[in-house]
Amino acid sequence: MAETLAEAVSRRRTFAIIAHPDAGKTTLTEKLLLFGGAIQLAGEVKAKKDRIQTRSDWMKIERERGISVVTSVMTFEYDDKVFNILDTPGHEDFADDTYRTLTAVDAAVMVIDAAKGIEPRTLKLFEVCRMRDIPIITFVNKMDRESRDPFEILDEVEEKLALDTAPITWPVGRSKTFCGSYHLANNTYRGGDAQVEPLKVNGPQSVAENLPENERQAFIEELELARDACRPFDRQSFLEGHMTPVFFGSALRNFGVRDLINALGDFAPPPRDQVADTRTVHAAEDKMTAFVFKIQANMDPNHRDRIAFARICSGKLERGMKARLARTGKQMGLTAPQFFFASQRQLADTAFAGDVVGIPNHGTLRIGDTLTEGENLVFQGVPNFSPEILRRVRLEDAMKAKKLKEALQQMAEEGVVQLFSPEDGSPAIVGVVGALQLDVLKERLQGEYGLPVSFEMSRFSVCRWISAENKDDLEKFMTQRRGDICRDLDGDPVFMAQDQFSLRYESERYPAIKMVAIKEYH
Ligand code: G4P
Repeated sequence: MAETLAEAVSRRRTFAIIAHPDAGKTTLTEKLLLFGGAIQLAGEVKAKKDRIQTRSDWMKIERERGISVVTSVMTFEYDDKVFNILDTPGHEDFADDTYRTLTAVDAAVMVIDAAKGIEPRTLKLFEVCRMRDIPIITFVNKMDRESRDPFEILDEVEEKLALDTAPITWPVGRSKTFCGSYHLANNTYRGGDAQVEPLKVNGPQSVAENLPENERQAFIEELELARDACRPFDRQSFLEGHMTPVFFGSALRNFGVRDLINALGDFAPPPRDQVADTRTVHAAEDKMTAFVFKIQANMDPNHRDRIAFARICSGKLERGMKARLARTGKQMGLTAPQFFFASQRQLADTAFAGDVVGIPNHGTLRIGDTLTEGENLVFQGVPNFSPEILRRVRLEDAMKAKKLKEALQQMAEEGVVQLFSPEDGSPAIVGVVGALQLDVLKERLQGEYGLPVSFEMSRFSVCRWISAENKDDLEKFMTQRRGDICRDLDGDPVFMAQDQFSLRYESERYPAIKMVAIKEYH
């Protein structure tokens, strides 16, 4: 019997993996894909990552987008569930990309290095998840190496993240003697991921047999303590973002990965409701809705195509259907939506809420765009961060100014940079969150548009989107400060300041003007 829409939607699990670099995100992703049959050999994902060693290598890779399909979305099936992993760039200079990607997931896996605990980037990414109430599953990785005491790790998660922990499995052994995981509630033991089904056991004693004699008693006592002292798992609390189930394992040595996939299947939510300007949209509604959270250009170097990654929020997308683009009100045909697997893409004939499809286009779609089957609504919440670095672009060949303008416009639509056009008609200013983004811009202007450029300091170093309750206040401010006002890509007004000090000074001087550092696309 054909699957109903509600059934198809309820099988979807769309998530991201958040981690500090080196905690094991790539290794874990690879193991998930391996168990899901999406890749055949360990090393396929890793090999690609390892080629990205230096800045320039990274940029070459960035240009040869063909292979970094792998960094956007990966789909696999396991045990009747469809998993969509949305990957996020590792480097913090691309943090805005990461944050936007996190708007498109329903859950996250937080990977922690068992020896290092919560590291700075984990903390930051966690905070973004918390802002959006994204439920988090914790995977404590590298248990096959010298690690911290599991209780200490749990305490750290509770203290640093203010998140309740509920260990679901407990590690059996440490570093060299680490040999599997014990399921605290089910009393089962899995000696490693090669073992698909865990073994039912008669309590910790029988599992302790796998350990050297001098570690057995300590393991039994520790397990008792874990049972007594730790909170039981409460799914509701997890779904609300207050509690995280914790798993211990070693992605490299294939421990704990099956526990994790099962948890994603059993605990993680199916596609969540999404808030639009007019109403909340439920995933199992008939009509298709989607929003664009990422754009990648030149994924295929032979075609100058742009892929817009759209998260489907409700209903079913069928190839060939027409969708309304909210920003323009125009219809667009979805003739070639694509699915992404580890190393290939494939035409998507049908995709359901929770899925992510790539939509090839030539600049019609932008980050934050909403697509619907007709209804006039706009999804909220894809953020735009005020840049940390502002520069003017200096062109070596002044004759190409028009071409530069077009190129910058395209880069801004892709989210590579932000573009600000001064009201007084002076040359545009580009803004980025991290310095590496400037390098990428320079490389791409040269490589794709034949435009050699350099960057010049701008007299501004911070900017804020401005608005006011009273339209006249805003207009007055903008007229008075014309030389400090720009328009962003959407035409929204932005106030430019020389430094933080003058920003603060001006915002106190003009209390009627609201100045914000994060704008949501609309
Ligand atoms: P990342 O994407 O989060 O940056 O981490 P990645 O998976 O690349 O892992 C970082 C390093 O940690 C890699 O070692 C990887 O092999 C290792 N690693 C990942 N999971 C485990 C684990 O469970 N146990 C142990 N012992 N090591 C693990 P590398 O030396 O940087 O790379 P490689 O040369 O070993 O591939």
